[in-house]
Amino acid sequence: MAENVFVVRAAESRDNAAIAGLVVEGFLDKFRPVFGKRMDRSVKIMEKWVRLEHDLGGVSSLVIEGPGPGEIPASVGVRIGRSEDDALARGLWKTLRRHLGFVRAGWAATLLSYPRYIANSSEAYIERLVVSHEHRKQGMGSALLDAAEALARESGKETVGLHVSGGNVAALVLYESYGYEESSRQRSLLTGYFLGIRDWLYLQKEL
Ligand SMILES: CC(C)(COP(=O)(O)OP(=O)(O)OC[C@H]1O[C@@H](n2cnc3c(N)ncnc32)[C@H](O)[C@@H]1OP(=O)(O)O)[C@@H](O)C(=O)NCCC(=O)NCCS
Repeated sequence: MAENVFVVRAAESRDNAAIAGLVVEGFLDKFRPVFGKRMDRSVKIMEKWVRLEHDLGGVSSLVIEGPGPGEIPASVGVRIGRSEDDALARGLWKTLRRHLGFVRAGWAATLLSYPRYIANSSEAYIERLVVSHEHRKQGMGSALLDAAEALARESGKETVGLHVSGGNVAALVLYESYGYEESSRQRSLLTGYFLGIRDWLYLQKEL
């Protein structure tokens, strides 16, 4: 049987639309209640969000390219740099308001503010790890996690942290097999009711 061939590489700005599509598809259950009838705007909003994260949030993204030519079936964001949090929040709010209108934007911003993360300069924060449905269970999630940890090490970080929702079995099994351990959890009745996510686990690993 032919082996699947793919490479992990640093994302470039031309990958932003593909990353946005992957994130919306991979977290559809979360985004449907957030965007409601404006779901058609979700990929555009996410694309802008990814760009803001790269420009202002200290985030570097990694993507997998292949097995098909030019295909981007998986990606992850790693926050290793300093984040200009206020500018990032202002940029996101402007984007939400333009696409969703004031009221829906307020709602979206509230739900998207979970889970809350307080940056720590000695830690790399992994976010939005996602593999498209048809490419799961082929080692892509692990390949991106390996590359994200390598990037964290090269950047001189001492720990890696990430959030995962309490019911996300696939991700929990993956992270636990990599030695991540729960260090705290947030409980939200709001996201429990509207997103079906009551517990947000914060996992950490020493590098
Ligand atoms: C979580 C996710 C990234 C895993 O990606 P993947 O490419 O399928 O993962 P891998 O093929 O590298 O699997 C590595 C290990 O993870 C675990 N795993 C992956 N999917 C699993 C599942 N559905 N059930 C249980 N364990 C699973 C297994 O231990 C697996 O090792 P194995 O294949 O030797 O059994 C993917 O399911 C995904 O994109 N989910 C939606 C988005 C998401 O929830 N991201 C995590 C955010 S915190």
